[in-house]
Amino acid sequence: MADQNSAPILVTGAAGFIGFYVARMLLDAGHLVVGVDNLNSYYDVNLKKARLDQLVGRNGFAFHRADIADRQAIARIFEDVRPSHVAHLAAQPGVRYSLENPHAYIESNIAGFMNILEGCRACGVAHLAYASSSSVYGNSPDVPYSTDQNVDHPISLYAATKKSNELMAHVYSHLWNIPTTGLRFFTVYGPWGRPDMAAYLFTRAIREGKPIKIFNNGDLRRDFTYIDDIATGVVKVLLSPPGEDGEQAADRDRGVAPLYRLYNIGNSEPVDLMKMIETLEKVAGQKAVKEYLPMQPGDVHETFADTSALERDFGFKVYTPLEEGLAAFVDWYDGYHAAK
Ligand SMILES: NC(=O)c1ccc[n+]([C@@H]2O[C@H](COP(=O)([O-])OP(=O)(O)OC[C@H]3O[C@@H](n4cnc5c(N)ncnc54)[C@H](O)[C@@H]3O)[C@@H](O)[C@H]2O)c1
Repeated sequence: MADQNSAPILVTGAAGFIGFYVARMLLDAGHLVVGVDNLNSYYDVNLKKARLDQLVGRNGFAFHRADIADRQAIARIFEDVRPSHVAHLAAQPGVRYSLENPHAYIESNIAGFMNILEGCRACGVAHLAYASSSSVYGNSPDVPYSTDQNVDHPISLYAATKKSNELMAHVYSHLWNIPTTGLRFFTVYGPWGRPDMAAYLFTRAIREGKPIKIFNNGDLRRDFTYIDDIATGVVKVLLSPPGEDGEQAADRDRGVAPLYRLYNIGNSEPVDLMKMIETLEKVAGQKAVKEYLPMQPGDVHETFADTSALERDFGFKVYTPLEEGLAAFVDWYDGYHAAK
């Protein structure tokens, strides 16, 4: 049951893959949740609507269809809602699309992020937790990737916007004492997942008997992370803001911005792309037709999260094995597409 006396939690990107899970988990735990999303058409809007349909009508949930890049609209929402916490998951995602439509990244991820920060400042929120990305590590050879390492060499505009978000959050933590936590997600997959990502693209191609596109001739490694683990991590971190003592903090700058934190959240077990495909074929019970292609510009060779800080500070570790997660995904995929 939602506690009608507590201030709501604002979840941006609530119709998106991760935002939907986070909003649902918060509602399940009895929190009031206000979702924001512009339901843009970057991928099938019906999938976004189908996620949202599961939230709308639930006790304690309200929804605003708004663009985070719309300064007035977002200021109004913050003023009306006065959230205690903000889980900021709305963004223009995707490395490859940032080569095609770079402006979308500046609008949603830079101007939009700015409006969220300003809303947080106006309301004096207890905590802003926001999505960053493993892509900030670029093609760094220093694996596993640690939040202590330098990430000044992004190789896609998407990555540059995510790194910029971390810098902007640092400024707001420093200037306005806003507790902020950036979470660098590593290749998230699972039921209700994004159609532009490997698990979805490959499963669809397998089921339709079409070739799957394997970039860099399959010589890629990804730290695939199951959605339930991500949502659990986001909620845990969101509800536990950084304290003034700076004790519980994966930050490198306690003196200047004690309320600023940054964590990796990933499986910490990178898998060869060919191994992932083999596992997918096994759980789908069907072989893929394979088309081998060169490396895509902007793509990285490997992602591998060092998650020791998250484990140390929250006692939390991602645990879902890839085969189990992919089986759940394929199960969902078959059911969802059969019902359409
Ligand atoms: N899924 C991953 O593997 C992954 C990895 C690293 C980082 N991330 C980050 O996590 C966050 C959530 O990603 P996701 O996978 O759920 O993506 P998603 O596209 O499914 O969700 C994002 C949601 O935000 C909404 N949105 C986008 N621009 C908006 C705008 N200007 N105004 C209002 N709403 C807007 C979209 O309509 C969408 O529903 C993003 O910040 C993304 O960059 C995701």
